[in-house]
Amino acid sequence: MKKQVAIIGAGISGLLACKYIRQKGLDPIVFEAKSGIGGVWTQTFHTTKLQTPKQLYRFSDFPWPSSVTQDFPDHHQVLNYITAYAHHFDLLKHIKFNTHVQGIDFHSQDPAVEAWHLWGGTGEAFSSKGKWTLSVNNTQKGSTEVYTVDFVILCIGRFSDVPNIPEFPLNEGPEAFGGKVMHSMDYASLDAQMAAQLVKGKQVTVVGFQKSALHIVMECQAVNEHWNLPDYLPWGVPLAYLYLNRFSELMVHKPGESLFLSLIATLLAPLRWAFSKFVESHIRLKHGLKKFGMVPNHSFHQEINSCLISTVPEKFYEKVEEGSIVLKKAPRFWFCKEGIVVDGTDPSRLKSDVVILATGFSGHKKLKEIFVSSTFQNLIAGSPKATVPLYRECIHPQIPQLAVIGLSESASNLYTSEMRCRWVAEFLDGTFKLPSIEEMKKDVAKWDEYMKRYSGQYYRRSCLAALHIWYNDKLCKDMG
Ligand SMILES: Cc1cc2nc3c(=O)[nH]c(=O)nc-3n(C[C@H](O)[C@H](O)[C@H](O)COP(=O)(O)OP(=O)(O)OC[C@H]3O[C@@H](n4cnc5c(N)ncnc54)[C@H](O)[C@@H]3O)c2cc1C
Ligand SMILES: NC(=O)c1ccc[n+]([C@@H]2O[C@H](COP(=O)([O-])OP(=O)(O)OC[C@H]3O[C@@H](n4cnc5c(N)ncnc54)[C@H](OP(=O)(O)O)[C@@H]3O)[C@@H](O)[C@H]2O)c1
Repeated sequence: MKKQVAIIGAGISGLLACKYIRQKGLDPIVFEAKSGIGGVWTQTFHTTKLQTPKQLYRFSDFPWPSSVTQDFPDHHQVLNYITAYAHHFDLLKHIKFNTHVQGIDFHSQDPAVEAWHLWGGTGEAFSSKGKWTLSVNNTQKGSTEVYTVDFVILCIGRFSDVPNIPEFPLNEGPEAFGGKVMHSMDYASLDAQMAAQLVKGKQVTVVGFQKSALHIVMECQAVNEHWNLPDYLPWGVPLAYLYLNRFSELMVHKPGESLFLSLIATLLAPLRWAFSKFVESHIRLKHGLKKFGMVPNHSFHQEINSCLISTVPEKFYEKVEEGSIVLKKAPRFWFCKEGIVVDGTDPSRLKSDVVILATGFSGHKKLKEIFVSSTFQNLIAGSPKATVPLYRECIHPQIPQLAVIGLSESASNLYTSEMRCRWVAEFLDGTFKLPSIEEMKKDVAKWDEYMKRYSGQYYRRSCLAALHIWYNDKLCKDMG
């Protein structure tokens, strides 16, 4: 009998998984909580554009249409591109919209799960001994259905649904504040008119200095420190010549590297430092960071290795110069009646009407909570001080018949998701088997070591950073 595969989520990862699994003769069923495809691209700030050049954010077998001439298309164009892909490969018929998977649970007839030496007992994708059940809520009908499948691919996204809200001591949190507090996710859900109304004539404080924060600040006209790029051409040299190529990957120590590669990385360390300083000097000058007291303490190299590359919206620093955007370094902050209090080198009270927490998402929490069993919840969560333990960033060594796509970040998430989906499809097709559970755990630990080594204080688990070619080579080798 044909094996049944369930894919949860119809963002780019879920669509890619559907396409590649289908090519292997399987007939996947895709559950999507929303009424449409595209995930994060369906609801975002109206000024959002692709921040990865479109040449790096494209499906390998489906080019951008010639009508999109910009290097950084806006979010409508991205969504149209994704939609055209889904139509072209006839994926929509597999998707059940408005279906929210509330929980997944594994039922095994094998009592020796804990003693397995190989994944699922055999190292293969499917087993006759176990199945997953999915409890699915139809958000339109209000009914719940249970599905039983042989394999689950979780494509539920890292940057949506569950906001990361900072914790505060009693009476120093939002409850102490007289104004409005919201997360960037809720701001993004407002239409342009409502968003404008919310901030018009108001004193708005935005917490965070990554992409969401930069967008909101620009939209409000109304920061911690980051090496946010003005463009991808430091001193006229394409960033891709300095990073994200095979030569640049020789400059860093890699998980499982040979003695020869380790020696090369050590010898090239001064060059790595020089490249970082080269980019930093460009950003410092272009943005006048010193003048605004915003020079980061960490290196650009650390920034790129933590997958924290952001580009600054056009004219951002002109608005800072003008005074309509005020930047504050805030190593610590808390709420008071009138606004927020900022600690650090320049302590101050920021009178505010609205505080927007552009403090990111808790993608790890969302992943954990989809599992019904507390054993699997603990396994997938791993240690908060280490990466989510996914072999090849896809497979948990101890959770059988399941893959995760799209949790671990890279410099170009579409391309990375596509490579992973191809890998999972080949695995389901029996092209290769997984190594032993012990070997997988060791490999995960080596990657974690690498991530920590180069991300420093910005280590935020699960990120391929500047080693995506080394990583892709591993996937390709597995696939033969
Ligand atoms: C505003 C924004 C801009 C970005 N820009 C870039 C960029 O320029 N370059 C780049 O490389 N990356 C960018 N990213 C990162 C982005 O997350 C990825 O590029 C990519 O779109 C993620 O796709 P995904 O399918 O993995 O996840 P998502 O797009 O988050 O899709 C997950 C889907 O799963 C569904 N889902 C979740 N839980 C359930 C459930 N329990 N049941 C059913 N369905 C569920 C959701 O409704 C959603 O449709 C951006 C992210 C954001 C938020
Ligand atoms: N294409 C686009 O235009 C676009 C637009 C929006 C988002 N995105 C993408 O979406 C993803 C999420 O971006 P995001 O900006 O929402 O989240 P993010 O990248 O996780 O950034 C969160 C920001 O909040 C700060 N922060 C977190 N916890 C905090 C706390 N307790 N106190 C104070 N500050 C805190 C972080 O500071 P530190 O860094 O100092 O820890 C960081 O500046 C990223 O991949 C991003 O590239 C892209």
